[in-house]
Amino acid sequence: MNLLINGKQTDQLSVLDRGIQYGDGLFETIAVIDGRLSLWERHVQRLLSGCKRLGITAPEPAGLLAEAEALISHQQRAVLKIVVTRGIGGRGYRPSKDLQPSRVLYCTPWPDYPEECRKKGILMRLCATGLGINPALAQLKHLNRLEQVVARSEWSDPAIFEGLMLDSDGRVIEGTMSNLFLIKKGLLITPDLQRCGVAGVMRGLIIELAAKLNIPVLIESVSLDDVKSADALFISNSLIGILPVKAFSSQSYCLELIPPELVRAVDRVMSGGS
Ligand SMILES: Cc1ncc(COP(=O)(O)O)c(C=O)c1O
Repeated sequence: MNLLINGKQTDQLSVLDRGIQYGDGLFETIAVIDGRLSLWERHVQRLLSGCKRLGITAPEPAGLLAEAEALISHQQRAVLKIVVTRGIGGRGYRPSKDLQPSRVLYCTPWPDYPEECRKKGILMRLCATGLGINPALAQLKHLNRLEQVVARSEWSDPAIFEGLMLDSDGRVIEGTMSNLFLIKKGLLITPDLQRCGVAGVMRGLIIELAAKLNIPVLIESVSLDDVKSADALFISNSLIGILPVKAFSSQSYCLELIPPELVRAVDRVMSGGS
């Protein structure tokens, strides 16, 4: 069984769990590379700080790691998803104080991302579905992902890898499953996520590595015009690392302007190097 719920090999979780009832929980999606949990510390830190923000009792990190390692013990390349919910019960929306959180770990095969995407870049489109502005939930990787589900169902053309999402004021925020970076005159720019969006583990790593490599980084409000006039674009998440964008709508970009030393540094850290 490739599934552990509260430490037991089972695929059964109560329908009364608040994760199912209200999306009351958080998740992490972690790459397993060469049998190792890539960027484990960063994922755990985000999970713990998300639990703190939502007032969910956080799982104990050493126990979580032991469960995760047991689950991936026969895997070289895979995806580990961890879901933590507030647990079962509470009348209506109001959570009781003494709830036991639920912990779900499951391992799935590595997705079939064509190697070509890394070399030749991906195509991205603009989504009509917008992201609601809500600073109280901004940056969290919480379980309410309906905006992404609706946005991702806007297109079925397999040639289009990602959709760009704007907030309800028209600011550029992120992709349906990734964060966005622009390169403009040698600057690395990524949208500010104070009002909505997911603060990706990979986004955080890229910002840190860029600073170490003396690549200037700006975190700021980004418009569609900024995206269209950028020299280069790339998307990021914990599974894909950095993927260059070849074209967005009718605009093409210069893949060569993505700093190769940044891509190499990300690959190295993802695989366990420093
Ligand atoms: C909406 C959204 N934004 C950003 C990300 C990137 O997050 P991470 O770098 O932690 O994988 C994801 C990843 O699934 C996502 O779904």
